[in-house]
Amino acid sequence: MKIIASNFKTNHTRASTKKFINEVDSYLKQQNINNQVFIFPTATALDSFDTVSNLFIGTQNAYFTKNGSFTGEIGTEQLDEFGIKTILIGHSERRHILGEIQKDIALKYNYYKELGYKIIYCVGEPLDVKESGLTETLSYIWEQFEGIDLDYENLILAYEPVWAIGTGVTATTDDITVVHQNIKQKINKPLLYGGSVKPANLDEILNIPNVDGALIGTASWEVESFTKMIDIASKIK
Ligand code: PGA
Repeated sequence: MKIIASNFKTNHTRASTKKFINEVDSYLKQQNINNQVFIFPTATALDSFDTVSNLFIGTQNAYFTKNGSFTGEIGTEQLDEFGIKTILIGHSERRHILGEIQKDIALKYNYYKELGYKIIYCVGEPLDVKESGLTETLSYIWEQFEGIDLDYENLILAYEPVWAIGTGVTATTDDITVVHQNIKQKINKPLLYGGSVKPANLDEILNIPNVDGALIGTASWEVESFTKMIDIASKIK
């Protein structure tokens, strides 16, 4: 069954997040949909949400600590307050805009792995690397797995080419096919695709071999659009 995930990034308030989650939860119940659905709200909108068991609320980020002096960060003390046990790690915006380096990403990964979190771990190449060819693209991606235990049972991967994120440019079916096939040959974990996924292209993307779901930003922020994509995913074997 395909997995559908929404990354809110820096969008929605506490109030609109609550409304959104309640609506998605009701939709899953009413339509009797059992696909795994993930929502990653902003840290300020995290809360104890009472949802169906296949709807997971996660944090977009947290530091590898329980608490301490890490200005601007949150740790597990803050996540435990709301029973959050799911985290997004390695997203390209954290790597390329916020400057997270692989060493720290691996420390974060290991910390949350030890605590049994469900981890959605993102990889993907920038445009100049893609333009250098497949060999360069794959070696760039393998470096993003450095220090990451790929046997971890609660691991979900996401391939998100940086040039396709928030740009409206979706990778072609061929681009997705070849990278997903290469990753799957090495790593036997669910593998999502992300990068300008929307209701109009989701069905085609989910039908590409080795695509186990989608991680969606922009097109997931309106609940009608997100539930439409959940519906599309629920109809695929
Ligand atoms: P996008 O973002 O759907 O807006 O391209 C995807 C992501 O960053 O996870």
